[in-house]
Amino acid sequence: MDGLKETDAGVDCMGAWTDGRRDDPVPCREVDKGLFEITSRDGRARLGRLHTEHGILETPALLPVINPNIRTIEPREMWDRYGIGALITNSYIIWKHDALKEVATTQGVHALLDYPGVVMTDSGTFQAYIYGDVEVGVEEIVEFQKSIGVDIATMLDVFSRPDMSEEQVAQCVQETIERAPASVASSGTTMLNGPIQGGLFKHLRTQSAQGMAEFDFAVHPIGGIVPVMERHLYKDYAKIMLASLPHLPPNRPVHMFGCGHPMLFPMSIALGADLFDSAAYALFARDGRLLTPWGTQKIESLVEWPERMPCVSTSTPAEVRALGKNERTVLLARYNLEVTLAELARCKQAIRDGTIWRLAERRSHQHPALREAFLWLSTSPHNKKLDLQFLDELILSDRDAARDRDRNAGKWESSWNWIVESQESPRKGGEPWGGEDTHVRPHINAAKTALKQHWTPHHREGKGSGEVLVAYGTSGPWRERLSDLMARLEHHSPGLEVMIQTPIGLLPYSLEDLNPFTHIDGPLWLWRRRPNPMEVRKELVQYGMGDRRIILVDMLGDGIQARALHALSEAGVFGVTNQDGIQTQPLEKEQRDDAKKRLQRRHVADKMVLLLNMKKEDVDLLLEDSTFVVNRLGRVKNAIMSNGTHIVSPRLTDGGLSLTDGGAEEIHATRDIAMPQDFEKTSLESHLFKGPAWVVVNDDAEPFVRQGRNVFHGFILGCDSWISPGDSCLIVNQKGELIGHGISQCTPKDMQYFKKGVAVKTRGGKKQ
Ligand code: GUN
Repeated sequence: MDGLKETDAGVDCMGAWTDGRRDDPVPCREVDKGLFEITSRDGRARLGRLHTEHGILETPALLPVINPNIRTIEPREMWDRYGIGALITNSYIIWKHDALKEVATTQGVHALLDYPGVVMTDSGTFQAYIYGDVEVGVEEIVEFQKSIGVDIATMLDVFSRPDMSEEQVAQCVQETIERAPASVASSGTTMLNGPIQGGLFKHLRTQSAQGMAEFDFAVHPIGGIVPVMERHLYKDYAKIMLASLPHLPPNRPVHMFGCGHPMLFPMSIALGADLFDSAAYALFARDGRLLTPWGTQKIESLVEWPERMPCVSTSTPAEVRALGKNERTVLLARYNLEVTLAELARCKQAIRDGTIWRLAERRSHQHPALREAFLWLSTSPHNKKLDLQFLDELILSDRDAARDRDRNAGKWESSWNWIVESQESPRKGGEPWGGEDTHVRPHINAAKTALKQHWTPHHREGKGSGEVLVAYGTSGPWRERLSDLMARLEHHSPGLEVMIQTPIGLLPYSLEDLNPFTHIDGPLWLWRRRPNPMEVRKELVQYGMGDRRIILVDMLGDGIQARALHALSEAGVFGVTNQDGIQTQPLEKEQRDDAKKRLQRRHVADKMVLLLNMKKEDVDLLLEDSTFVVNRLGRVKNAIMSNGTHIVSPRLTDGGLSLTDGGAEEIHATRDIAMPQDFEKTSLESHLFKGPAWVVVNDDAEPFVRQGRNVFHGFILGCDSWISPGDSCLIVNQKGELIGHGISQCTPKDMQYFKKGVAVKTRGGKKQ
């Protein structure tokens, strides 16, 4: 096994590995083998755990490619020093080389590599792509992988190149699907990769994903993308992902075959990738190239390191250049690996923080092809519909360059929706302004869609019903600044709607603390911009207020109340006025309290409609004669029904709404449609105002949920199709009886497919 000792050259050089061994991994439970669970998510990005006999692999993960003939960094060091939980090697190379084959078949692949973690093997498809053919059979190569004890084997798929004709690619897709049953049968209990082919053809990628999804694969690699990445066709890369991933079972990790450049990680992960493999760290090192999250740099011209990684902490690029070829290659391979792992760690933290799209957005500025991909992704027809306000003047000019014909045809709209519908909203914390990109962040899209679908003006008779007051000029919170004014308007001009201009669109005053609208962190001018009446009009049309007269009021500085009243008096909207046109008489205490109470009710009611998907009439009935507990800043803390039930609590952290046990019962009783029988997907529109989604659990889960325990995947019989991560939901038994309520962690398809992990975090159980 020539080359095995290559890393010995590095033992005494800078960054060499000399100490510390990590314990071998603990095998997963036998019953869990092959299962994948999600522990955290941000839209389609997910942190997961793949259960294998050689440990539980935390995803997203990078699997370094080990060429068993040339081991630039020893697999043992990958495990001990870098904490790498899985690697990939090539079973065809092992199969072809007698010496390797002998060790692998007698001692197993883990012994051959001296690696205790998860070993994935490829099948020889890539060699067939490079050299034209391989001599091994479809079943033979899977059986071989099984016989040497790999954790995840790969079937012999047929590589589809981007330059192939549609007929040729269709042939690759078809043949790969035809090989699937025999491959799955040969794999026995070994986990098997079922690669997705389809070249650059959207329908063939989709066909491949749908076809391969039918078989019992453990992981789905996206194949045929190496030449796409080599040519920096990142827009095509994104298209391939969007054409494939929505059609795969979500409980199987997605592996990006041959993708190991850290620059691609944030976008790939944001689009749902779980696994990556990379030979790049070693291949690039050989010719002195350094990987960075923003591209590749040659060491030749460097005085400083692009990123100062641990392995080069005591050496300069010049010193490393002076090393012998082997020594330098090993050190640069370590460098590349460290940079790659660091970017992966950033992505994982971003998933936890709910900022993966923002990271992808930021990284998209690092490379023109990546930017093009990102603009293509975020400039969907769907966004255009929603972002009328910014569409004409701000977005089109820049984004036109990145848009192509098929986008206009709306061909990708459902793929974009696939991303948007998995977004949690509202979220905690501020939303940093990122220029035009801010408008097309998927969770902002989700928030705007929900608002526009759910919120309607009250259409009350009386003064102001033909007008809308648009307050602008300052960032939130607005409650204290506006609450006295609002009470007076509520009393004197009950027909008036008040909207606040935020950098991402109009926000009804009744929802004034709702994220992300309320917490856009950006420069002052962002809030100071005087609204363009044309833009405002376009948005008002969407809220059914297109015919109302717009009254603009600047909120900055003292005297907001006087300014607003003056403007309204001039417009003839506001009550009794003195000769200067200003209503001088303050409200009586009783009038003010009454007006404030009505505002509080509207605040809670509008949130129940928006965040619990409820009918206005049901909410009005539930909140009839209700009372509100407010904190010293005037924010509603609890809403109490007339029967004494504490129904909901507006949340301070994100402007969301927390459902109470009593509230869940009251709302459960308002349902007037059949309970979900399974996981059928129906159009989202048809489920507007049908209440919070129901999750039906089986008899085994019922006693646990009643005690307040979480709902686990595998115990769910059905759910409403409009459930999405972060939503409040009602948990019912097979008879439709309420047994608890909680926060969904997933989409309906996740509920259908996953067998492990938490599906609903239970907030309250209903004892029998
Ligand atoms: N490695 C890189 N691309 C591919 C592919 O499409 N199929 C397989 N099996 N391995 C690969």
